[in-house]
Amino acid sequence: MPTTQAVAGDVKDLSLAAKGKIRIEWAHQWMPVLELIRKRFSQERPLAGVRISACLHVTTETANLAITLRDGGADVVLCASNPLSTQDDVAASLVQDYHIPTFAIKGEDNKTYYSHIIAALDHKPQITMDDGADLVTTAQTQRQDLLPHIIGGTEETTTGVIRLRSMAKEGVLKYPVISVNDADTKHLFDNRYGTGQSTLDGIIRATNLLFAGLHVVVAGYGWCGRGFAMRARGLGANVVVTEIDHTKGIEAVMDGYRVMPMAEAAKFGEVFVTLTGNKRVITTEHFQLMRDGAVVCNSGHFNVEIDIPALEKMAVGKRQTRDFVEEYTLADGRKIYLLGEGRLINLAAAEGHPAVVMDMSFADQSLSVEYLVKNAKNLQAKVYPVPVHIDQEVARLKLASMGVSIDKLTPEQERYLASWSEGT
Ligand SMILES: NC(=O)c1ccc[n+]([C@@H]2O[C@H](COP(=O)([O-])OP(=O)(O)OC[C@H]3O[C@@H](n4cnc5c(N)ncnc54)[C@H](O)[C@@H]3O)[C@@H](O)[C@H]2O)c1
Repeated sequence: MPTTQAVAGDVKDLSLAAKGKIRIEWAHQWMPVLELIRKRFSQERPLAGVRISACLHVTTETANLAITLRDGGADVVLCASNPLSTQDDVAASLVQDYHIPTFAIKGEDNKTYYSHIIAALDHKPQITMDDGADLVTTAQTQRQDLLPHIIGGTEETTTGVIRLRSMAKEGVLKYPVISVNDADTKHLFDNRYGTGQSTLDGIIRATNLLFAGLHVVVAGYGWCGRGFAMRARGLGANVVVTEIDHTKGIEAVMDGYRVMPMAEAAKFGEVFVTLTGNKRVITTEHFQLMRDGAVVCNSGHFNVEIDIPALEKMAVGKRQTRDFVEEYTLADGRKIYLLGEGRLINLAAAEGHPAVVMDMSFADQSLSVEYLVKNAKNLQAKVYPVPVHIDQEVARLKLASMGVSIDKLTPEQERYLASWSEGT
């Protein structure tokens, strides 16, 4: 049974806190840029008294972000941005050791998930931080009374940014939101290398499959899809890509992958991974074609990329065969295995992105929150990019933390690049 504390949140089991604290400290040592920001925040307190509600995957890396914001003076509460991504030991430690109210239990049902989002909104935030826009959309649909007090927000992922842009277009977005996802120091690394590696990690932890020689079908060749395809190939898989965008299709072909419609790939794929941000990418017509033993999973934000209701309908039997592996038996005897209930497999069955990469994403988050506190009054209710100076500063600090230095433009080169007349 969940442990409910009056003010401190709702977590699975506070006795897990000691393990969570050690793991939070482990992640911390791989997040040097965030640590520099935390140290400055501790001295300058740029977020003093600012109420922040954050709806993020409750992982060791997110814990370090929450601590950074707290040390900057913010009054932070945290809730999960996915029912399966919470690390219960981390949630316990945040409450017990860091006194950051946290509402998150791994495996919580949808009702609890949304009650946790409401609990985070009850904090009456001045700033919202989202991964998938659930706080913004829940405030918009259920807690409009809060909207006038929110000065700004940040958004971590591609799917959330898409939702926010459509809110802005329809005129229902009520405050400025910074799209952290679109910073170069975020999607080029987090989506590509982070999702690439951790998705592979999630599939392997759940199934213990050998990737060498495996036919792996990757739906979506965006930043996440590219990263996953690259890493699967690195382990020796035969990777096939499906796309709906012609340019991405060419890119995948020229990167050396076979590209074809899902209805073709469904016939021979052994593992299917969706990373599109779209819905019903794998559906009845594809399940009908799949070989016996096919494994399907998703690493896109929502669990709608695989048509799970269709699979449920087709199945004559269902059982759990391993943690995060559900076996569906079809009428003709074929078995299809669904991983992690179709939710982000890298967070459901593994630990999400490594801290090294979240260091940049969460540096962008922290500095974007600081920017909002200073500048929100001059911004409109739109989706804004991370200011270029923040993106560049995060890149500079990250490279320095790796002990890598690069060249500098000479004055002559600067003049040359700035001039339209110096062609030769
Ligand atoms: N698992 C994680 O930890 C994690 C991390 C970052 C982002 N995400 C999520 O992953 C998803 C993809 O993110 P991204 O940054 O790669 O986005 P992206 O926009 O760069 O790429 C998505 C790609 O999917 C393609 N696509 C759309 N519909 C398709 C369909 N029906 N069939 C095949 N391809 C289709 C698009 O053309 C595009 O190329 C989003 O939902 C994002 O929020 C997950």
